[in-house]
Amino acid sequence: MKTEMKDIVNLAQNRGFVYAGSEIYGGLANSWDYGPYGSLLKENIKNLWLKEFVQKRTDTMLIDAALIMNPKVWEASGHVWGFADPLMDCKGCKARWRADKLVDNKIEAWELEPEGYAGDKTDSQRLDEIVVEMKIECPDCKKTDFTPIKKFNLMLKTFLWVTEDGSSQAYLRPETAQGQFVDFANVARSSRRKLPFGIAQVGKSFRNEITPGNFIFRTREFEQMEIEFFVTPGEDDKYFTHWKTESERFLTEIVWLSKDKIRFTPIKKEELPHYSKEAGDFDYEFPFGWGEIETLANRTDYDLKAHMEHSKQDMSYFDAVNNKKFIPYVIEPAMGLGRIVLAALCDSYTVEEERTYLKLDPKVAPIKVWVLPVVKKLWDLGREVFSQLSDDFQCEYDEVGSVGKRYARMDEIGTPFCVTIDSENYEAWNVTVRHRDSMKQEVVALSELNKYIKERLK
Ligand code: GAP
Repeated sequence: MKTEMKDIVNLAQNRGFVYAGSEIYGGLANSWDYGPYGSLLKENIKNLWLKEFVQKRTDTMLIDAALIMNPKVWEASGHVWGFADPLMDCKGCKARWRADKLVDNKIEAWELEPEGYAGDKTDSQRLDEIVVEMKIECPDCKKTDFTPIKKFNLMLKTFLWVTEDGSSQAYLRPETAQGQFVDFANVARSSRRKLPFGIAQVGKSFRNEITPGNFIFRTREFEQMEIEFFVTPGEDDKYFTHWKTESERFLTEIVWLSKDKIRFTPIKKEELPHYSKEAGDFDYEFPFGWGEIETLANRTDYDLKAHMEHSKQDMSYFDAVNNKKFIPYVIEPAMGLGRIVLAALCDSYTVEEERTYLKLDPKVAPIKVWVLPVVKKLWDLGREVFSQLSDDFQCEYDEVGSVGKRYARMDEIGTPFCVTIDSENYEAWNVTVRHRDSMKQEVVALSELNKYIKERLK
């Protein structure tokens, strides 16, 4: 049976992974809250990324830049004038759509591209014509009558002082990446690193997304995991390939997303943004279709040059060995954390005859061990076992309900091990470990329990 988005949304909401944001007030479009298990799942994926790309490498460093930066940053980066979506409203049902997305979908279905269109969102006039030429329909009401396309800047505005005049206007960052560029000279100087080196950052970004979100796929606030990897010009192609391999390894061998549901689509030369020499997207096949989870780009020296010009500060790098001063090139692997969480939920969702469960990799699973004493007289011992295990692992202690129901709950949350304390074994200081995927049970000595679990989490 094909998994549908509604199955994922139901499980996520019922089992405490994700809730509608501000639900008691009717919610807010494209806004979601991570619940107890969703928060842990997201945290685990983030920590695995930090481990692979910061802890285990000698050439990357982590920063945590401000969410609200000097507005001049966004002028220099081009976001103030260029970070806009072409939107149009359906005159029939009033739904608002991204014109380029509807055109792209039709091109994919037709496998035919209209003349003079190469995904160029900046030419609204041509896009207006194409919408008519291609008889684009409103996905909701199927009418083909739209208002003229208008550009909407995606940056969320805020005000820093009491008066809300233009001078106090600032933006919530639409990407983490500019923090790395703005701090490049500081990091290079204070860390005394030689090229190549990367600056990594994980944090929230904000975009005023208006179009439908597909659950947590497209949201107004989301976490990005981005690395700006600074290299000597001429070495950029080599490092683009390196980060393509590393990104694929992370997605398929660390988060364990199915290889056949991941694809890399290079961006056509004529569709590349002006600052990019080469780029491509890693997409995951969600129940609603292929969706981008990471973008990889060779951003050349565009950003550092732009900040150098606008700030009048020197952003160049001095290569002491070759006695040369230059602006480094940058390779940028940029992942969306929420989208990887959604991919992990979709990928692990498994339906068998008798049960539904999340076959999450144990490293990624929010709860590693579920501790359940079978009867009331074993509650005290159960709490002791929880305390022994929780020193090493994220555990849950659960003393209420039938064992079968408790197993079902733990399966749906994707917990790989369940430790049952029952009357048969407790006197010999043994417990039963149930494995989520095989449902096999093994008797393990309490004294060996942490070691037993640790070995199986590797
Ligand atoms: N610095 C480059 C950059 O920000 P991007 O393709 O706009 O590139 C990178 O964003 C990743 O961030 C995307 O591949 C996606 O996973 C995630 N992302 C972007 N917009 C998002 C949104 N509105 N909601 C959730 N994730 C988003």
